[in-house]
Amino acid sequence: MRKAIVAGNWKMHKTASEAVELVSELKPLLTGVEVETAICPPATSLQAVHAALAGSAIGLGVQNMHWEGEGAFTGELSAGMILAAGCSYVILGHSERRQYFGETDEWVNRKLISALEAGLRPIVCVGETLAEREAGRIEEVVLGQIGGALMGLEADSVTDVVWAYEPVWAIGTGVTATAAQAEEAHAMMRSFLAEQLGAEVAAGQRIQYGGSVKPDNAAELFSQDNIDGGLIGGAALAAESFAAIVKAAL
Ligand code: PGA
Repeated sequence: MRKAIVAGNWKMHKTASEAVELVSELKPLLTGVEVETAICPPATSLQAVHAALAGSAIGLGVQNMHWEGEGAFTGELSAGMILAAGCSYVILGHSERRQYFGETDEWVNRKLISALEAGLRPIVCVGETLAEREAGRIEEVVLGQIGGALMGLEADSVTDVVWAYEPVWAIGTGVTATAAQAEEAHAMMRSFLAEQLGAEVAAGQRIQYGGSVKPDNAAELFSQDNIDGGLIGGAALAAESFAAIVKAAL
């Protein structure tokens, strides 16, 4: 039985003090709630949020990383730095990084290898744009992104990878995929993963849904057979709504 995982992607929101305030509201709401939960604030808040999370089961993650261990890569962070800052999770290949920062499947693959070697738990995002969906290219795009991310990796090294299906047209738009649309994509992803990695590894990997998840649609999405929690953007920025979404995964 797969355990659900709910992660908050704070994107470029919250100063360190605002982040600490949100964590202090969130902690009591999630005490004793047995759902694997993580928050991914901006890098400037990591130290403060790590301290604020003391005594809580909420995990900490980042929204991106570089694949090299160190070097002349202005503006970047390595897996080792992220780990040393107290993080266990890293979001890779988010559509905003693909769209605005030129992130390619090859980069996602290098980052995934580096994150796994460091012992971070990667959350790898995939998803089609509206134009791609309307052109009937969901399968080609989504499975292409998964295949690209997995290039050269052995099945037994990727058991801990979490996938996030995030249709680009549903991110930040208020338009969520219906539970049936999401489940169809997740089932397609899982059967592709079974072909690539074997049925056992594929059956154990978590696939989150992301894209306008809110407290009022989370339970229906999370109750689908192949949906194992969510990656939450906007609704992760308020303690009450994020906690309600986490509880919907119980
Ligand atoms: P949203 O973002 O929940 O604001 O749609 C999801 C995401 O981008 O991970």
